[in-house]
Amino acid sequence: MVFPQTRMRRLRATAGLRGLVRETELRAGQLVLPMFVSEAAAGAAAGSGREAIVTMPGVERLSLAAAVEEARETAGLGIAAVMLFGVPEAKDEEGSGAWDEEGIVQLAVRAIKQAVPELLVITDVCLCEYTAHGHCGVLREDASIDNDATLDSLARTAVSHARAGADVVAPSDMMDGRVGAIREALDGEGFAETPILAYSAKFASAFYGPFREAAGSTPAFGDRRAYQMDPANGEEAVREALLDVGEGADMVMVKPALAYGEVIRAVKTATRLPVAAYNVSGEYAMVKAAAEAGYIDERSAVLEILTSLRRAGADTIVTYHAKDAARWLAEQR
Ligand code: PBG
Repeated sequence: MVFPQTRMRRLRATAGLRGLVRETELRAGQLVLPMFVSEAAAGAAAGSGREAIVTMPGVERLSLAAAVEEARETAGLGIAAVMLFGVPEAKDEEGSGAWDEEGIVQLAVRAIKQAVPELLVITDVCLCEYTAHGHCGVLREDASIDNDATLDSLARTAVSHARAGADVVAPSDMMDGRVGAIREALDGEGFAETPILAYSAKFASAFYGPFREAAGSTPAFGDRRAYQMDPANGEEAVREALLDVGEGADMVMVKPALAYGEVIRAVKTATRLPVAAYNVSGEYAMVKAAAEAGYIDERSAVLEILTSLRRAGADTIVTYHAKDAARWLAEQR
C-alpha cells in the first residue's frame, strides 16, 4: 500500500501518538558522568576545590571534597555512575602513580563509595595521565611502546582500583591482551566479581583534544596512532570487540561516539554484550561552543545526540552532558 492509503504522518500528529510509537528511550540511569579528580584542585581559588577547564565549559577538575559533592549531586539526578580520571601532580617514566594505593583516583573511589554507596564508580585504567611522556604505555629505548611490558602496569592499576572499591574498571589504553591480563590479575587478587568495561574500539581521534588539556595527558612527542584505531576501520573495530569478549570483557565500548554510530551498531550485533558509547570531550565542546554562539539550541541538540547513540545500539552513554541531560529528562516527564 502506498500513498494515499499509506500516510506516515498519521502517527506523528500528536505528542500522544508519537510517544506511543517511539522506538528509543533515554533515561538518566543509562548515563555515566566522567569526572576529573585532581591533586592540585585542593588549592583552587576561594577553597572551592574546583578548577575550570577552559575547553570544556561546565566541566571542572575536582578536589576530593568537591568530587564527593559532585557524586552526591550526580546520584541525586538518577545518573547511573561516575567514571573517574586522575590528574596527579607528579608523573614519572613508568606512570607508577596509576597504581599508587594512595593515588588521587584510589582516594576518590574510597571517598565516593563511602559517601554515596548507591552511585556506581567506574575507573579509567590507563597510564597516560601518569607518564611523563604522556603515552598510554611503557616506552622502549627507541620511544616505541612496549605492549607486553605495559600489561603488568595496567593489571596492577586495575587491581588497585578494585581494592579501593571501584564497581567497574575500564581499560582505555588499547594495548593488546590487556583485558585478559586485567581479568587474571583481578581474579588472582580476589576480585573475580569486578566487571571489566573494555574500551574495545577506541579510535585515534581529533575529538579527544579538550580531554587532554583537562587531564594534562597530551603526548610529549608523536601521537597515539600506533595503538589507538584508525578512524577509517569499522571491521577492525568489531574484531577488537570480539577479542575483548574472548579475554573476558563484560561490557565493550566504542569511542568517540558521534561519528561512529554504525560501529556501535556493528559491535552490538557482533558481541551481544552491553555496549557503551563515549560521547567524548571534543563532541561536548562543539555543542557547547555552538550553543554559546547561539547557533544551536543546546537542550534539544544534546537530547537528540544522546537519543541517537541509544538508537545506534548503545546501552550506556558516557557523557559530560549527563547532569544537564538528567535534569532535562526529568522535566520532560
Ligand atoms: C586515556 C583516555 C582518553 C580519553 C579517555 N581516556 C584520552 C586519550 O586517549 O587521548 C578521552 C576522553 C575524552 O576525550 O572525553 N587514555
